[in-house]
Amino acid sequence: HRGAHEPHDLDGLRVAVSAGGTREPLDPVRFLGNRSSGRQGVALALAAADRGADVVLVAAHVDGAVLADAERHPLIRIEHVGTAAELGDAMRRAAEEAAVIVMAAAVADYRPADVSDRKLTKEAGPLESIELVQNEDIVAHLAARRHPGQVIIAFAAETPDHDGELLERARRKRERKGVDLLVVNEVGWDRGFEAGENTVHVIGDGGAVLALASGTKRAVADDVWDVVADVLG
Ligand code: CTP
Ligand code: CA
Repeated sequence: HRGAHEPHDLDGLRVAVSAGGTREPLDPVRFLGNRSSGRQGVALALAAADRGADVVLVAAHVDGAVLADAERHPLIRIEHVGTAAELGDAMRRAAEEAAVIVMAAAVADYRPADVSDRKLTKEAGPLESIELVQNEDIVAHLAARRHPGQVIIAFAAETPDHDGELLERARRKRERKGVDLLVVNEVGWDRGFEAGENTVHVIGDGGAVLALASGTKRAVADDVWDVVADVLG
């Protein structure tokens, strides 16, 4: 059914999308980060805007080349953030106006307890460990305070070790976060991140698989929006 959607079936829909990966600084030159390129999140923003939605794209360390089309799109406003805390603030602001929230960003689960204003050096003594503190779960927070009718979508990248574990983990995660839809994909050392293609399951109410989408990140994005359009009615 790919491409079956109406070109402007999301006209006027207000959407907030997060994309990319947060970086948690350790000192002015080092950070804890992750491998998210932001491509899937940007594809979701572009797909929504091309279908008429008004999009706020909260981008955490997304390459300029990946963002180029979004920067030119009249229906997309980009906000740049760095850390999980900044991403949380930007998404909470965007959520006040948004009918649909898409958390495609890879958010650091932990941040260093202390950030040094000066570069850590071996001269000052060996660094044996880094103390971490947990970051707030942004999407769970947004879901707990959702407006009536607001649709909230989380993403998960999993590394299952047996058949069935991907969906089991996805269903538990959807429940734990209190989101409407959870989009899950399998990742590994050589799959999922920088790749242009993706395969995802969209999990909805009661853990039902509402879609199995595969192809370019743009094709997957359009399939996700088809599910959202259905949920919105
Ligand atoms: N997420 C979030 N805030 C965090 C961590 C994650 O909003 N502090 C969001 C992500 O943007 C994503 C969803 O939660 O939409 C799932 O992320 P994931 O890392 O899979 O979930 P976690 O609860 O952190 O589980 P895990 O321990 O497997 O990393
Ligand atoms: Ca996590």
